[in-house]
Amino acid sequence: MDILTAAVSALSLFCLSESKEWPMHTICSGPNLEGYYRSCDPLQDIGLSIEPCFKTLPEVVQIKIALLLRRDIKWLTLNLSVFIQSLKVFSFSHLICEPTSTFYTFCGRRKGELIYFEGPVKFGIGTIPTEGGEREREKDPTLEGEYNVSLELFNEDNYNIACGNLTLVSH
Ligand SMILES: *[C@@H]1O[C@H](CO)[C@@H](O)[C@H](O)[C@H]1NC(C)=O
Ligand SMILES: *[C@@H]1O[C@H](CO)[C@@H](O)[C@H](O)[C@H]1NC(C)=O
Ligand SMILES: *[C@@H]1O[C@H](CO)[C@@H](O)[C@H](O)[C@H]1NC(C)=O
Repeated sequence: MDILTAAVSALSLFCLSESKEWPMHTICSGPNLEGYYRSCDPLQDIGLSIEPCFKTLPEVVQIKIALLLRRDIKWLTLNLSVFIQSLKVFSFSHLICEPTSTFYTFCGRRKGELIYFEGPVKFGIGTIPTEGGEREREKDPTLEGEYNVSLELFNEDNYNIACGNLTLVSH
C-alpha cells in the first residue's frame, strides 16, 4: 500500500474498533535496513516513508508523509523516542512549526486538510546510541540491530496530530 492509499483509506476507515490495530506498513526497504510502522493513533492511519534506506543514515533524509489534520497546526512538535528491548535509550523533542516559520509548507494548515509532504528533513539522529565507535559515527550514524521508535506529533494544545510505532531492523 503506498502512502496516499494509506491516507485515503484512513479517510474511509475513520473509526476503528478499540481492539483493532492499523495495518503494518513498510517505511523503507533497502539492502541492509528495513523499517516498518503502525499508526498508534486510534482514529487514523498515516502514510510515511523515508529515503534513503541504508543503515548509515545521512543527516538529511527525504520524507514522505500523508495524514489528515484533525486540528490546526500553528505549532507542531515532534517527540521521538528510541527503544531497545522496551528500554528507552534515546529521545528528543523538536519544534517543527511555529507561527512565524515558513520552512515547511504544511505549517499553519487547518483542521480538515489533508497534508501530503515530500521533501528533505534534517534529523538530529547523529546521536542515536550505537554499539561503540559512536564518536566516529556522529556524522553518519550506523544503525545496528533492531530498534523500536515511537514518533508523535503534537500541536499547540498538546493534541496528538499523528502517532507512529516504528521498527527498524538492520542486517
Ligand atoms: C506503540 O508503542 C507503545 C509503547 O512504545 C505501546 O504502548 C503501544 O501499545 C503501541 N501501539 C501500537 C498500536 O502498536
Ligand atoms: C519492539 O517491540 C516489539 C513489540 O512490542 C517487541 O516484540 C520487540 O522485542 C521490540 N524490539 C526491541 C528491539 O525493543
Ligand atoms: C515531548 O517531549 C518533551 C521532552 O522530552 C516533554 O517535555 C514533553 O512533555 C513531551 N510532550 C508530550 C505531549 O508528551
